[in-house]
Amino acid sequence: MVSSPRAFVTGFPIRHSRSPLIHGYWLKQLGLEGTYQAIEVAPEGFADFVRSLRDNNYAGGNVTLPHKENAFSLCERPDAVAEEIGAVNTLWFEDGVLHGGNTDTYGFMANLDALSPGWSQRKSALVLGAGGASRAVISALKQRGFTDIRIVNRTLERAQELADTFGIVGGAHEWNSIPELLKGAQLIVNTTSLGMQGKDDLAIDLTEADADALVTDIVYVPLETPLLRAARARGLATADGLGMLLHQAVPGFEYWFGKRPEVTAELRALVLADMDQAATTGGAK
Ligand code: ATR
Repeated sequence: MVSSPRAFVTGFPIRHSRSPLIHGYWLKQLGLEGTYQAIEVAPEGFADFVRSLRDNNYAGGNVTLPHKENAFSLCERPDAVAEEIGAVNTLWFEDGVLHGGNTDTYGFMANLDALSPGWSQRKSALVLGAGGASRAVISALKQRGFTDIRIVNRTLERAQELADTFGIVGGAHEWNSIPELLKGAQLIVNTTSLGMQGKDDLAIDLTEADADALVTDIVYVPLETPLLRAARARGLATADGLGMLLHQAVPGFEYWFGKRPEVTAELRALVLADMDQAATTGGAK
């Protein structure tokens, strides 16, 4: 008897992950046999966990903090985007070989494609932050042909390292140069954790921003972050970050369960309701 495909999301901690909700919705909606479960694995156990996947008959799974870099090292065949970013968030078996990809880049692009069609006709971007999420965003901007990418970060060296990795000459800038850098930036992206519920606000004066700039945030709790609120007040176009979470899940689902799912308004509403419930019951995210 062939058993139904099994997939997982692992992280440390993992209990707040919304991935089981998303994949569970798609399994039900598409009427597919399969399971998707959250498995908490501490860093010291992660290598053994990955090595046990084949014997445990997993089709693959998602990997989140703090395991993404380790997943990149441990997978047998990283794809081109994972290589570029140096981190893996999706694992899957193909002909018995453990592949690793990074679908955050796809998620970022697909979210803006849905919320702001034509967004990548813009060619200049200001990226706030230089962590793992920033790498995924910069990879997306390069794929879509952005020619002027400015990276600002509290720690300049990290921005410089990213600019070097992605071959962006003159791309790294000090945090205090944001007002100057806003001028002529057609896309403004926050990839820092600032503005997230429970963290400091991202207080940026958008006075100097171009009137036709599009502002987006990878933070989606709250859905309207202080940055997006300020952008809206200034009359700028905005796109929230929830869709990045939803869209990054699409390729993994297709690898494991064999059907490409859709990001629907119903799914978005389901996740928003879960966020509301977590906010009223004091859940972290
Ligand atoms: P992720 O993988 O989610 O991107 P990360 O690698 O920890 O997480 O990166 C977090 C980003 O938020 C970094 O750009 C970080 O700036 P530093 O590189 O200087 O640490 C940024 N960040 C976090 N707290 C910040 C703060 N209070 N002010 C400015 N930037 C902050």
